[in-house]
Amino acid sequence: MDPRLTSRRRFLAGTAATAGGVVAAVSCAPSTPARPVPGFSHSVASGDPQSDSVVLWTRLDPSGRAATADVIWEVATDESFARVVAHGTATTGGFRDWTVNLIADGLAPGTRYCFRFVDDVGNVSPIGRTRTAPSGSVDHLRFAVASCSNYAFGNFHAYGHMARRTDLDAWIHLGDYIYEYANPGAGETYGEYRLLDPVHEIRSLSDYRRRYAHYRADPDLQELHRLHPMIHVWDDHEFADDPFIGGAGNHQPEDGDWNQRIAAALQAYSEWMPTRLDGNRIFRTLRFGDLATIVGVDRQRRFLWPEADDGDLYLGREQFDWLDTQLAATTTEWTVLAQQTTFGATGTNRRSGGWGDADRGRVLSSLAPSASDLVVLTGDIHRFHAIDILEAPDAYDRLTGAGVGAVEFAAGSVTSPGGNSSGDGPQVRWTSGDQRGYVLVDLTAERVQADFFGFPDPEKLLARRPAERWLGGFTSDRSSPGLRQAFRPAPG
Ligand SMILES: [Fe+2]
Repeated sequence: MDPRLTSRRRFLAGTAATAGGVVAAVSCAPSTPARPVPGFSHSVASGDPQSDSVVLWTRLDPSGRAATADVIWEVATDESFARVVAHGTATTGGFRDWTVNLIADGLAPGTRYCFRFVDDVGNVSPIGRTRTAPSGSVDHLRFAVASCSNYAFGNFHAYGHMARRTDLDAWIHLGDYIYEYANPGAGETYGEYRLLDPVHEIRSLSDYRRRYAHYRADPDLQELHRLHPMIHVWDDHEFADDPFIGGAGNHQPEDGDWNQRIAAALQAYSEWMPTRLDGNRIFRTLRFGDLATIVGVDRQRRFLWPEADDGDLYLGREQFDWLDTQLAATTTEWTVLAQQTTFGATGTNRRSGGWGDADRGRVLSSLAPSASDLVVLTGDIHRFHAIDILEAPDAYDRLTGAGVGAVEFAAGSVTSPGGNSSGDGPQVRWTSGDQRGYVLVDLTAERVQADFFGFPDPEKLLARRPAERWLGGFTSDRSSPGLRQAFRPAPG
């Protein structure tokens, strides 16, 4: 008998033997960091949690492999996999860059699970940890929110801090997860501290795959994916900087056919990210019991896959119609809009192609018939901010919250450089562009609190992870929006 089959059967037999046995209850709390294991250099990931299912992801090391391979996956409530609650087999191969992306379903709500994979030669992956979304009555949720992670600009220390948290329901990334640029001397460069693979600007399917593989070899990002489920919406750099209909600011004639480049970027994305992607549609909702609905949208859609008539709407006609329906139907206490750039009116977003007054008004009015309060999460701008979103600007009073319709928090950036902004108006309650990090969004039925965590920008260049500091926080009450400064981080 093939010894590889023997070892695989032994693995499965071991699983079966312990499944019915008497084993002490052990929750899923895999040790940090995971040690590298043969066959699974890119570790594991999970994402898009729903109350009964979650996306599981891994990749087989392709070296020496034939065309395809079967991979066994298991989900258990304990780290020793004595209590396996779901399992199956997935097939991968070079046709999808040896990645596995599957939906494990039939799970219980609000439950922490361990998961792992075993390949066709008996290698066992690192143990991942994930969590399903809760259902029914929920009193507390916590999400770490990040954006703009340019590998070449510094170390992913912010990811390292997020990975080590034990209080997250999920982490949210608002786009620019990879950047398409080159290293110095190899084409257009944007960040020159860390060496990229490939070193040149990415254009082909092979390029995009290699760039994802390179990012996912980063130990901080790898641990974050292993330990917490991700919710992601892309922005422009997952394709190329600044798309417009028919091209992009960073797509020149020598870069080849633009539509082929979009298709290559999309395929690599679908292979490498633990996301419930529906073709090229990434806009979607994820519900967390009666407390929050996360609505992710795609501002690049109207440029990447243009409609015959997009109505000159920020999200295009089809997506905006979908968003109207989602917002009007939301019955959770909070609606969390996960999107890419400044939503509230400021002095600067009017100049940078952000949300227009009509688009913003449409979102606020679509939400109005329901009882849900809106929290907007923002990426792209490489600085933190907290903004009162005004529905009645003439009535605005920042002390009482008069005129405020919703609140907005920008996630800053993981590494991408930013600067402070001025002249944005009194509704911009706080902003900081010279610190890198993430924002922790803490929701209860009574209020939202956003706590900004980070460190000074130059410390992203340190090899050793700098301590993170609480940079400040803001709260806003449900049913009566308006930012108030917090004087301590929200209690865990
Ligand atoms: Fe960015």
